[in-house]
Amino acid sequence: MDWKAQIDSAKLPQHVAIIMDGNGRWAKSQGMARVFGHNKGVDSVRQATEAAAELGIKYLTLYAFSTENWNRPQQEVDALMELLVNTIAKETDTLMKNNVRLLTIGDTNRLPERTREIFKACMEKTQSNNGLQLIIALSYSSRWEITEAVKLIADKVKQGQLDISSIDQQTISRHLNTASFPDPDLLIRTSGELRISNFLLWQLAYTELYFTDCLWPEFTKEEFYKALVNYQQRERRFGKTSDQIAK
Ligand code: IPE
Ligand code: IPE
Ligand code: MG
Repeated sequence: MDWKAQIDSAKLPQHVAIIMDGNGRWAKSQGMARVFGHNKGVDSVRQATEAAAELGIKYLTLYAFSTENWNRPQQEVDALMELLVNTIAKETDTLMKNNVRLLTIGDTNRLPERTREIFKACMEKTQSNNGLQLIIALSYSSRWEITEAVKLIADKVKQGQLDISSIDQQTISRHLNTASFPDPDLLIRTSGELRISNFLLWQLAYTELYFTDCLWPEFTKEEFYKALVNYQQRERRFGKTSDQIAK
């Protein structure tokens, strides 16, 4: 099936978010150590980024490392941090060439200095690129993000800069790490797990969810196109009736 040919370019999602899961299981299936799967997963990141950029999707958010992932064996955490450094170092030129801007969400202060520095450098270098906005969720969890937002809002109230009665949903959205991005239209999770794992809980309120058994290292452009075609078959009602939407 030629999935790309089935995509309606007039109905593309503005923002796609991906929970990239299944690297460890893929490595195991190959008789290799988990890190081998993370390395191979970088190819899939490239595929998804290229596909999104080529189609003209404006925002792509990739869940690369969660707050809870800090609890993995130190050796795996170290390997992931190293992989992030090497990948960003290697890919920055390609991002420039393709007009991609790199951004992060998450508690990046927890990252090792080298990781933080390379991301900072890449973000600065790509900051004027106005093609795809590639957002990497790093040391990110939604409950962490919402807790931080509550603290920021509470502080403004305390300082007399914000009136409690004026707090609305926009106030909350504006204090999240994702303040400058629209909510995702489509969430993809690979590896067959049917859960959100603390990702963008607030932002996913009306997002279309797509789960695939495909393990992340096996995720290709074709898989991405397939998810988009599936998304385009959905009717997004936002609480209204189907008749109202058809108008
Ligand atoms: C996703 O793959 C990558 C990260 C969470 C960093 P996993 O490492 O979770 O792979 P599985 O789920 O164990 O197969
Ligand atoms: C979610 O994957 C986090 C990332 C993809 C970075 P996990 O593999 O950590 O999720 P759980 O723990 O199985 O829910
Ligand atoms: Mg996993």
